[in-house]
Amino acid sequence: MIHQRVPAILFVSLVFSACAGTGTGAPASVDPGRVEASRRNPFLDVNFFLNPEYVENVEATAKAFPSEAAAIRKVKQYPTGLWLDSIAHVANVPLWLDEARKQQKASGKPTLSLLVVYDLPNRDCAANSSAGELKVSENGAARYRTEFIDVIAAHFKNYSDLPIVVILEPDSLGNLVTNMNIPNCAEARDVYVNSTAYAIQKLGLPNVSIYLDAAHAGWLGWDPHRESVIKVYKKVLKAAGGTDMIRGFATNVSNYTHLYNRDGAALESSDPCYNELVYVQKLAVGLADRGVRNKGFIIDTGRNGKGGIRKVWGHWCNIKGAGLGERPRAAPGPFPFIDAFFWVKPPGESDGVSDSSQPRFDPECASNESLQGAPQAGVWFQSYFLDLVRNATPPL
Ligand code: BGC
Repeated sequence: MIHQRVPAILFVSLVFSACAGTGTGAPASVDPGRVEASRRNPFLDVNFFLNPEYVENVEATAKAFPSEAAAIRKVKQYPTGLWLDSIAHVANVPLWLDEARKQQKASGKPTLSLLVVYDLPNRDCAANSSAGELKVSENGAARYRTEFIDVIAAHFKNYSDLPIVVILEPDSLGNLVTNMNIPNCAEARDVYVNSTAYAIQKLGLPNVSIYLDAAHAGWLGWDPHRESVIKVYKKVLKAAGGTDMIRGFATNVSNYTHLYNRDGAALESSDPCYNELVYVQKLAVGLADRGVRNKGFIIDTGRNGKGGIRKVWGHWCNIKGAGLGERPRAAPGPFPFIDAFFWVKPPGESDGVSDSSQPRFDPECASNESLQGAPQAGVWFQSYFLDLVRNATPPL
């Protein structure tokens, strides 16, 4: 899935420049519960839901590799994102949340689930490995609303006792900034914006904290790209009802960009954001300058523990040599606006199939920096998981 294209000549979309209105402050109509929810870090003072299916995959791997079982089993204590990547998988919501409720009851502490909502029409529009089921040309926008978002929202209403975090549609708005030269993305431009606004409105319940995807340093780090994506966010938030409709932004989802080092300086010297923390800081300042204030950030640290693993920043598929990164936790610092480090992409799940004869093959997954033998996106890739464990930094 996570796609990124660093164009040789920066392609800066001016498409949204006319839409950078200033009026994205919360209108009087925003529910006070929503405003309150947008002001606090939902990751504080909670336990994290542990997905039994993920735990099973880890346990099966531990059994298969007894000499490394002790390190492998440590992974089971950390939460991972729950991906809603198809209409069919919406049926998982009550299963996950029933289980979260059990975990909450057992621990006596609020138990937070993090869901990734990921089924826009023309999904993964600039790549192929995570191409979705809905198409703009086949009534996808309407189906996204009625068969996907509305159904998720109806489920959420039955779990008002549970804290829920939603990350909306990884990659989508970033693609609107750098990939409008690709017809599949150009076709989806308005649908991405309107569908995201709709999802924010429908899923924005008092116990649900919403984060928009904000790509990563190696994709939108350049000043003009950050400017452009902020314009896109403002447009989406205006349509959704104001900046108080969301808690913040999620970065590095399914990517590998290091938190602290200077990898980026070697990979793309023209990018001022040479690591993910620099990127988040610059993005937060840019957003605040444009009236999107008090936002929190989630950084996906599932696979960015080890630096120096890529020669091409734009490579994104099952990158060899990657290691688990910082452990999921709330308010990790060093910047006050980071709500959490979290393993959003479940470490060990594939980014895309490496066999060119298979459906949804994307040549990126056969790149010289990608581990071969990879199954379809989202499927457990045991040898990749083992490498993540072996290369974990800090170690498990
Ligand atoms: C895939 C999804 C999967 C997710 C988490 C995405 O790349 O397209 O199907 O659930 O990764 O592994």
